[in-house]
Amino acid sequence: PTPLVLDCDPGHDDAMAILLAVADPAVDLLAVTTVAGNQTVDKCTLNARRVLSLAGASGIPVARGADRPLVRRLRIADDVHGQTGLDGPLFTDEPSVPESPYSAHEVLVDVLRTRSVTIVATGALTNIARLLSEEPGLAANITEIVWMGGSTDRGNIAPLAEANAYVDPDAADLVVRSGVPFTMCGLNVTHQALVTEEVLERFDRIGTPLARVCSEWMTFFASTYRDLFGFEAPPLHDPAAVARVIDPAIVRCIEANLVIETQGEWTSGATVVDLDGYTGRPANARIAVELDQDAFWDRIVAAVTALS
Ligand code: BDR
Ligand code: CA
Repeated sequence: PTPLVLDCDPGHDDAMAILLAVADPAVDLLAVTTVAGNQTVDKCTLNARRVLSLAGASGIPVARGADRPLVRRLRIADDVHGQTGLDGPLFTDEPSVPESPYSAHEVLVDVLRTRSVTIVATGALTNIARLLSEEPGLAANITEIVWMGGSTDRGNIAPLAEANAYVDPDAADLVVRSGVPFTMCGLNVTHQALVTEEVLERFDRIGTPLARVCSEWMTFFASTYRDLFGFEAPPLHDPAAVARVIDPAIVRCIEANLVIETQGEWTSGATVVDLDGYTGRPANARIAVELDQDAFWDRIVAAVTALS
């Protein structure tokens, strides 16, 4: 299995990404690190602990990362993910999985010192940017960074910016320029991962407490996506990045030049993908373009079933 660290801001779709990474035999989840984004880092860290507790994954450390973007003010997405960052089912108990005494930065440094690891990032790239700028020598041990973020076309928080890119474009810019192999799973592909009624029925058929919690998360997520964006079914963005590592055939990519807009008056956080080769700049990223929906949902359903 591919050794993996998941850097995330749970978040409903991050929660499903965590479950997939815990359960799927093709990856070995070494740690979960958190970053401010969908909610404050306090809430995202609590949620990561909650998800791992529900999954019975007590051996995986949860380490707290950046509480704000590199230079900008934090913009949370409580309109999409609610007051807790993971609204839906109500939890009052303290999750059994503790917070690591080490920071996300310390855990990333520790893991990368001794081995090559893939990083899946499903939030703003703040932690990864800090890692690369403070420990450039460890870059060689990052096999690949697979990011849910950006888009080859429209945005979802600004006309041309996807939320994870918009929250910390300076971090995304630094990471893309670092030269570490980089894969972008943007909205153009995650909007192919819709939680349809049929998908919800598959969760219901699993029939376990965990599957019921997933179903309640998806139902909340569906309601905000319907109200805010008019989606009939919400896109489950973040697991697409994990699925790409599990089996590259699930998420087909092409190679292209990618730059992040950090200066634009109207376009900050735009991920500019030169699909047609206008700029003549060399390819520096793999860009996800197509999702095998059947294979994707089969892996997710198998993961939730295996954890129950
Ligand atoms: C991304 O933003 C967050 O709201 C989701 O968790 C996902 O990572 C989608 O734009
Ligand atoms: Ca996320």
